[in-house]
Amino acid sequence: MTSSLRVAMIGHGFMGAAHSQAWSVARRFFDLPLHPEMRLLVGRTGAAESAAKLGWAESSADWREAIARDDIDVVDIVTPGDTHAEIAIAALRAGKHVMCEKPLANTVAEAEEMTAAAEEASAHGVRSMVGFTYRRVPAATFARNLVADGRLGEIRQVRAEYLQDWLSDAEAPLTWRLQKDRAGSGSLGDIGAHAIDMVEFITGSPLTSVSGLLETLVSERPLMSEGVGLSGTASNERGAVTVDDVALFTGRFGNGALGQFEATRFRTGRKNAFRFEISGSRGALSFDMERPNELQFYDATAPELELGFRRIIVTEAGHPYVGNWWPTGHMLGYEHAFSHQVVDFVTAIAEGTQPQPSFAEGLHIQRALAAVEASSDAGSAWQTIPS
Ligand SMILES: NC(=O)c1ccc[n+]([C@@H]2O[C@H](COP(=O)([O-])OP(=O)(O)OC[C@H]3O[C@@H](n4cnc5c(N)ncnc54)[C@H](O)[C@@H]3O)[C@@H](O)[C@H]2O)c1
Repeated sequence: MTSSLRVAMIGHGFMGAAHSQAWSVARRFFDLPLHPEMRLLVGRTGAAESAAKLGWAESSADWREAIARDDIDVVDIVTPGDTHAEIAIAALRAGKHVMCEKPLANTVAEAEEMTAAAEEASAHGVRSMVGFTYRRVPAATFARNLVADGRLGEIRQVRAEYLQDWLSDAEAPLTWRLQKDRAGSGSLGDIGAHAIDMVEFITGSPLTSVSGLLETLVSERPLMSEGVGLSGTASNERGAVTVDDVALFTGRFGNGALGQFEATRFRTGRKNAFRFEISGSRGALSFDMERPNELQFYDATAPELELGFRRIIVTEAGHPYVGNWWPTGHMLGYEHAFSHQVVDFVTAIAEGTQPQPSFAEGLHIQRALAAVEASSDAGSAWQTIPS
């Protein structure tokens, strides 16, 4: 009989729902070496109702209960960034495997402490991973495989943009995502972090230096009376937005490639346009999360008169993760990557290997975010990202 892996999840908002779906569904489609058991959901208010709705056996109002209990193996952190470090470090020290949402922390100092705790715990077989989920969209993993197989040749230029518009209404309420002390940064850490992780994952090369420009377009908004995730209702009082609304940056990669990045929640009409285009000496790739099953591939070695971007529908059984879902050609959606994340995390725990991305990778991205901020503060002067 397969042993169980007893999970506690901290937080029950947007990501709480996405992770709950993944914890419950993954074992039904993939042969997992350990069976996730959704034991405990933690939330400061309304945890019992959410536990019943999302499929958790028990609930608690205090995350410390998850750390103290012997019958919890995994702590899954899906709370805002200001809570990640304290919960993750406590969980790792108590011998719990940790999945922590991105960005890893709100500051480089916190991310360093978390990484040190993760490395210490790893010596005792305790695993940790950051939730850069988009890597596990099949088209993204397939893109990485094409690059690794040399199909793009030498990578020369990378473009990544993550465009949303849910803040373009200046009266949209001030969620925690607009408060520096809660979120660490704005568009930069919320969605720009995904852009950095994605292109580093696909090209296998880290960003080494950046020049950035951050701007807050709406400096004051109505305070939020209630809400989670990206939405809520506004109250009559107003408060200051303390994070960037738009993040633009250019960068250099370790392999010599040049990159350009944009992260914004003000691009009217763009809902979840997480796009990348990667160009190399032998070919190019292009992706848009608004069409998540498609990957555009240009093979520069094709006969001259046949050159052009080809649309690959990434729904064949041989594509990454796809064979465990539906028959060929049947589409996957936003939530599937979260199941893939669970599959890889649980497999790494069972096999005693380091799940990816590690906290060390999360720390690198935190340093990249800090370098963009420092550059913007210094009139866009180039900043080296410490390794
Ligand atoms: N991987 C992805 O694609 C992705 C997508 C969205 C958000 N995220 C990340 O997930 C995290 C959560 O974002 P969200 O959109 O789910 O936020 P949310 O506002 O929808 O939910 C946050 C939850 O955390 C709870 N919470 C806050 N402080 C807490 C505490 N001290 N103890 C217990 N619970 C607490 C809130 O009550 C709420 O249930 C953030 O780090 C965010 O960056 C990742």
